[in-house]
Parts: sequence; C-alpha cells; structure tokens
Amino acid sequence: MATEALKDAAAELTQRKLAAQRRRSSWALSLFRRHVPFWWRRALYTPYLLALDCADLVRGGRNALTPPRYLDFAGNFPGAGQEYVDYFKDLCGLQPNHRVLDMGCGIGRVAVPLAEYLTAGSYEGLDIVPSGIRWCQKNITPKYPRFRFQTVDVYNKMYNPGGRFRSADYRFPFSDGEFDLVFLISVFTHLLPSDLEHYVSEVSRVLRPGGKCLYTTFLLDDEARQGMEHGKSAFDFRYKLPGCWTSDPVTPETAVAYEESTVAPLLGRYSLKADPTHFGAWSGRTSYLSYGDIVTSTKTSSP
Ligand SMILES: C[S@@+](CC[C@H](N)C(=O)[O-])C[C@H]1O[C@@H](n2cnc3c(N)ncnc32)[C@H](O)[C@@H]1O
Repeated sequence: MATEALKDAAAELTQRKLAAQRRRSSWALSLFRRHVPFWWRRALYTPYLLALDCADLVRGGRNALTPPRYLDFAGNFPGAGQEYVDYFKDLCGLQPNHRVLDMGCGIGRVAVPLAEYLTAGSYEGLDIVPSGIRWCQKNITPKYPRFRFQTVDVYNKMYNPGGRFRSADYRFPFSDGEFDLVFLISVFTHLLPSDLEHYVSEVSRVLRPGGKCLYTTFLLDDEARQGMEHGKSAFDFRYKLPGCWTSDPVTPETAVAYEESTVAPLLGRYSLKADPTHFGAWSGRTSYLSYGDIVTSTKTSSP
C-alpha cells in the first residue's frame, strides 16, 4: 500500500485517538491523572469496564483475540493494530517469513493482526506488565505458536513502579542480529533519555544488517511547538528535563517528548540510518501520517 493510501486508511482512527487524548488532557482530568497513579486509576474504572465487558458478552460482540476491557491497560481501539502492520509492510518491507521483535507489546494489539500476515516468520513480544503478557500467552500463542510472549521485570514509574531492573541496564534476551524488524509502538513515549538510548543500542544489536526498526514517538520541532502554543496539541510538553520534555512533572513517564533534531544523530551512534520522519497528528499538524510521529531506520553494519 502506498503512503498516501496508508494516510487515508489511518485518518479516522487518528482523529478518534486525538479526540480521546484531548479529552484526557482537559484541566480537571489532567489534575486527576497527575495525582492518582496509573494503576489506581485503572482500579477505579474497573467496575465500569467490567460492566462494558458483560454487555459485550451478552451482545456477543467480542472475538476471542480481543482482550476484555478491564485487562486492556494499553487503551486499544478496535482495529488499531492493523494500521501498524501496514506501516511495517510499506515503510519497512516486512515479509511473511521475517523474524520480528515487538518491544513493549502491551496486550497484543499489534500482534493479533500481525499474526495473520507473518505466516512463515516468527514473533517475540516483550512487556513489563505481567497481566497483558499472560493474556497474550493464553490467547494468542495457542492459536499462533510462532508468536511468543515474555514478561520483563523492568521499572517504569507509570507502568511498573515495582520493577527490579532499570531499562538502561536491561539486555534484550536475544542474540546479535537475529531480527529483520524491531518495533516499539508508543514505548519511547514513556522512556526517559538514558533508558531510550540504551534501548536504541539494544535494538541495533539484535537487528541484522539491513534490518529495520520502526518506533512511534513525540517529536518537538517548530510546528509541534506552535501547535502546543495555540492549544491544538493533545499534549502540553511544558516541563523540561535533561534531554527531554514531559507533560507531567510528577510521573514524567506518562508522556515524554524529544527534540526532533536529536533523532538521526542518536540512531547514527548505533549504526541505524534514519529515514525522514513521518510526523503525526498529536501536535495539531494538518498534514500527518498517523497519530504519533513515526521514525524508521535501517541497521547499517554491526555496532
Ligand atoms: C501505550 S502502551 C503501548 C503498548 C503496545 N505497544 C501497543 O501499541 O498496543 C506502552 C507500553 O510500553 C510498555 N513499556 C513501558 N516501559 C517499558 C520498558 N522499559 N520496556 C518494555 N516495555 C515498556 C508498557 O508496559 C506498555 O505496554
């Protein structure tokens, strides 16, 4: 599918995500989100989500590979994962026999549609939230045994505040050069600079030369800053930290943004050649591909 067609296919979904995030960024909700930790908020919503799950059960509207809402901490929109599979094919040349790593796979949003395409390849999904991984192991792997999932006990103030290891010290449990594609969807949006840089080095290590990396992120350039100034952005990255910005000074990992000009030099330090960025709609741009900014790169040689 050409990029223009991808753009059209993603447009409605992008607008829905933008509207949902803008609602969450309203003054009162921001305050609530800032002072009530993520998992406590989830616990508060759980009775409501369970009621919706019951309604789904009665209506018979949910298939076996759609997680129940009360478990879905990653905030899936129906059909959202397919958008990324199209990007893997169109922007990264993904083939059905490729070996793929989904770092921060959540509760299988991308794995499910990818399983229909990766018919001769294999997939590894890793995440720091055990409940999501357990759901994937129980529901996706039995149907698609080439798709494996594992929990990693890594700290993230938002998602895994009890994690034992720092992302900046975590070695991905794979050999050098074993993957054709590594992707991280909305994961670097929750990582601070030293963690992100270490993950980039690990992505590079496990990619084969010529392999591709795709990640989504929030990038600041003049246009994104103008969007924030004029209230068009879904996030207000007003708090500066060393090497990044956040919208939440209490739990910075809630949403982290990076300077766009730092992307190519960072990737270049780890033998990853950056392609031109596909900017997203999150900051209020009128021309965009998806919701987040999409960065793709190619592994050039051994690190
Ligand atoms: C917004 S969710 C996106 C999940 C999934 N990629 C998707 O697109 O549905 C962010 C995910 O990043 C994961 N995450 C956060 N920090 C991580 C880390 N250091 N290593 C791996 N995953 C991490 C979270 O547990 C969460 O599942």
